[in-house]
Amino acid sequence: MGRIKNICCIGAGYVGGPTMSVIAQKCPNIRVVVVDSNEARIAAWNQEDLSQLPIYEPGLEQVVAEARGRNLFFSKEVNQAILDADMIFISVNTPTKTYGEGKGMAADLKWVEACARQIADVATSPKIVVEKSTLPVRTAQAIKDILQNSPSKVSFQVLSNPEFLAEGTAVQDLLNPDRVLIGGDQDPEGQAAIQALVEIYQAWVPMEKILTTNVWSSELSKLTANAFLAQRVSSINSVSELCEVTGADIEEVAKAIGTDSRIGPKFLKASVGFGGSCFQKDILNLVYICRSFQLHEVADYWEQVVKINAHQRERFAKKIIKSLYYTVNGKTIAFLGWAFKKDTNDTRESPAIYVADALLDERALLAVYDPKVAEEKIYRDLDFLENRSSEDNKRLVQVAESAYEACKDASAVAVLTEWEEFNSLDWERIYSSMQKPALLFDGRNLLNKQALEKIGFIVHAIGKSSP
Ligand code: NAD
Ligand code: UGA
Repeated sequence: MGRIKNICCIGAGYVGGPTMSVIAQKCPNIRVVVVDSNEARIAAWNQEDLSQLPIYEPGLEQVVAEARGRNLFFSKEVNQAILDADMIFISVNTPTKTYGEGKGMAADLKWVEACARQIADVATSPKIVVEKSTLPVRTAQAIKDILQNSPSKVSFQVLSNPEFLAEGTAVQDLLNPDRVLIGGDQDPEGQAAIQALVEIYQAWVPMEKILTTNVWSSELSKLTANAFLAQRVSSINSVSELCEVTGADIEEVAKAIGTDSRIGPKFLKASVGFGGSCFQKDILNLVYICRSFQLHEVADYWEQVVKINAHQRERFAKKIIKSLYYTVNGKTIAFLGWAFKKDTNDTRESPAIYVADALLDERALLAVYDPKVAEEKIYRDLDFLENRSSEDNKRLVQVAESAYEACKDASAVAVLTEWEEFNSLDWERIYSSMQKPALLFDGRNLLNKQALEKIGFIVHAIGKSSP
């Protein structure tokens, strides 16, 4: 196959949207069509007003503004885009299975399989199919098996090209990646397919950052890279609990650990726990794969990363309940932040949801403010838990328009997301509008503890001894 002229990406989500926008921006001679079965999502990508794109990512509006309508298109015509493309990225969701074999652990591959079947049914010319979704090692074999049964008998190559972007920094991560990983077959056809994808990335990524491997190494590297990152967060969070009972300060300890050049300073920020759509599901998937190969010790090792994360969220909620004398019933707790991290409107697996659930079990009232998360999304997240009726969620949880509104008359404030704007709030004003004693639980170690204590707050921060 020669140079790629037409790309199709199935899945216009947090990965498909930004990734294809950057490819289109950097490769103006390639036509990039992003398709999705969710028509509302496609309509949102096509909106005139770029501030209304379906996902919020710093810098994304500018990239879309440059490429959309030139060589970047968002469409609901999936079959047409498959027919036209030389290369098809599969960038659909792969959440944890909620039913049947592997329930609660394995990745649900039904959307990936649906894509492979649709490509097999529709394609009438050779295609390179690229796994962009995060997939269990050896999924490429299943995709190949399906494609080989294509009625048109055209040839397919399957590559693995996992995505390493983090939300909130997606555009920067795509423009300047630490590495691009491409796995393919080791025969001449496989190598030619790898080369076709390498040439796309070479438009802006230096060659030494483009790693090529066999398919299985690439699939497994993605799962295990996420496991390593999450393991650092759980490691520092486990130390934070020890700090709280010994008088050590987690930020001092993290700095002392991270200045060892063999360890490095990143991903050592203690928090209420990691969230996001991937860390937990990818580790659970890794654990499931290990168990399926009877590697029980390896499985147990990684599973502990997820257990510590759940423990960290639970103990944060318990601390709030305990500090309010175990009588949270009817008291208002302000939540600053609902997104799983700053600079995104994504709330999947956000620790805020779990902390809210524990407090609502105690019949607390919540007042939530997040600068980028829409009110409907907050209620949808709570309804999804199925622990309370939708009416109860509406009655117990108010969504505020500002941090000041959320905190007014509250007994406690909990910082759940590290949005920068919380640092520049008028905390004296907030203090004077709250019930006394005014408690503050900093789940991100975002705020200046001493300054808040001077105002009069009783501050509980992660990994710091409590008053
Ligand atoms: P997402 O849910 O935001 O987007 C997936 C999209 O695929 C949805 O819009 C859905 O409607 C669409 N879709 C599903 N099946 C389809 C089909 N058969 N035909 C057409 N459209 C279909 O998910 P995401 O966050 O973009 O994640 C996608 C994959 O990338 C996952 O495997 C994830 O693990 C991986 N990943 C995500 C991130 C991240 O930061 N979110 C980073 C790296 C990798
Ligand atoms: C993560 C990885 O960083 C990406 O490389 C990967 O591509 C992606 O998962 C994926 O596969 O989906 P993401 O989940 O978007 O990206 O965001 P991170 O910056 O990794 O943060 C994840 C969670 O860990 C957040 O809740 C964050 O607040 C938390 N975190 C992170 C900490 O609590 N402490 C830290 O030091 C770092």
